[in-house]
Amino acid sequence: MKVTFAKPEVPTQGAYIVGVMEGRKLTAAATQAEKATKGAISRSLNASRFKGGHDEQLLILAPQGLEVSRLILAGLGNPAKLDGFAVEAIGGRLIAALNGAGEREATIAVEALAGCPLNEAEIAARLATGARLRAYRFDKYRTKEKPEHKPTLKKLTITLGDPNAAKKAFDPLDKIADSVMMTRNLVSEPANVIYPATLAKEAATLAELGVKIEVLGEKEMKKLGMGALLGVGQGSERESQLVTMQWNGASDSKAKPICFVGKGVTFDTGGISIKPAAGMEDMKWDMGGSGVVIGLMRALAARKAKVNAVGVIGLVENMPSGTAQRPGDIVTSMSGQTIEVLNTDAEGRLVLADALWYAQENFRPKAIVDLATLTGAIMVALGTDHAGLFSNDDTLSDQLVAAGKATGELLWRMPLAPSYDRLIDSPAADMKNIGGRYGGSITAAQFLQRFIQKGTPWAHLDIAGVTWSEKDKPTTPKGATAFGVRLLEQLVAREYEDK
Ligand code: BES
Ligand code: MN
Ligand code: ZN
Repeated sequence: MKVTFAKPEVPTQGAYIVGVMEGRKLTAAATQAEKATKGAISRSLNASRFKGGHDEQLLILAPQGLEVSRLILAGLGNPAKLDGFAVEAIGGRLIAALNGAGEREATIAVEALAGCPLNEAEIAARLATGARLRAYRFDKYRTKEKPEHKPTLKKLTITLGDPNAAKKAFDPLDKIADSVMMTRNLVSEPANVIYPATLAKEAATLAELGVKIEVLGEKEMKKLGMGALLGVGQGSERESQLVTMQWNGASDSKAKPICFVGKGVTFDTGGISIKPAAGMEDMKWDMGGSGVVIGLMRALAARKAKVNAVGVIGLVENMPSGTAQRPGDIVTSMSGQTIEVLNTDAEGRLVLADALWYAQENFRPKAIVDLATLTGAIMVALGTDHAGLFSNDDTLSDQLVAAGKATGELLWRMPLAPSYDRLIDSPAADMKNIGGRYGGSITAAQFLQRFIQKGTPWAHLDIAGVTWSEKDKPTTPKGATAFGVRLLEQLVAREYEDK
């Protein structure tokens, strides 16, 4: 789908979309279409329940007086409440309707809305962003799909007074959308295609954008003493990898970076503590955290963010085999702390233990955020609409929650406390890798906190419930969501970039 911005002009083919505000208040473009159609809009409104809410649409097919195939009234709600994310959602819903209807081209009329916090160009850019995000499909392996079942929309034109201003506003958002789609692709790929070495290769493509890449194999990690990460990968034929992605965009190239660390278990069978067969295929997306870190670093580099940021991803495949780690094994992490591995399926925290330590030792970050599809328990606690947030720092935590609200990638803060930490003490080693029956997401986070150095602001996002969606959402078709890319890009833009 190609998106272009142009001067206002009523189209002569395809779909034409005009806005209607709360209380059925017509925009200027809608008023003009009402006149051209000799009142088709008001007649349609009277025959419908459409009120102009921001999630409503009303379709008028083949309206007399216009040459278009269809006129769509897009509800805008109250313009004072339209933020970037709300406009993206409108763009996403429109694209879904157009593709569902088999439309090939469409024109959206944008204009300045009194009281709206976004100007005309920003509205246009956000509509385009939402449209692109929702138009995403992972269909590379569907060789026999009928053309009529494929998305049909080829051309989207957004009209406004200053198309160049929209182009300018869209440029960074377009790059972020590309990055979101890269993450979605990586997460959607099956585990026979994406495994540690191939995922590392994908991360290495960021070099084209000026990101400095370092890849460690098992030999190098062994030298560094990463016994926790290596233990998880030792049952697999695929070599474990640790990838570092550095983007130095701040005016002071020596300024301490913000660090992002991702869990990259390219397939999680559970290891010797093997998972049941039903649903195990989902564990191809157990590398979701690392996929988000790759997409995020891509977004920051592509839009040349004025920030020093580092991404570190620990890539392993968790398999049962003759060389696999056994329950009861004791491993020594890079930090020197020892871990009794009581359940080989609690592997994400083992990978992160070494990746987090490596990130702190090498970069002394001013803040560190990790992302991981870490626990099924977070889905029990929060369902699929919020990711779990754990943090040792109220400021970082508040910044993350706010960035989440702005992007629609919502976070809910969960507790950390010494009483939970005691649940992972082990009589045989410094700690064990599982807690008791209850509070599984919290004991997992407490485990990670044991690998955070004193004075480092840290946040852990448990994204197990939000990485994959069973249903379509306005800007996210069902499947891989890339939850976290928009959120953390927004965090950086708000709090960590040079002004
Ligand atoms: N990757 C899983 C967590 C997960 C489960 C993510 C379902 C997405 C959907 C993780 O490695 C895991 O297996 N966690 C165990 C921990 C337990 C053994 C303490 C879990 O949640 O059951
Ligand atoms: Mn597991
Ligand atoms: Zn896992």
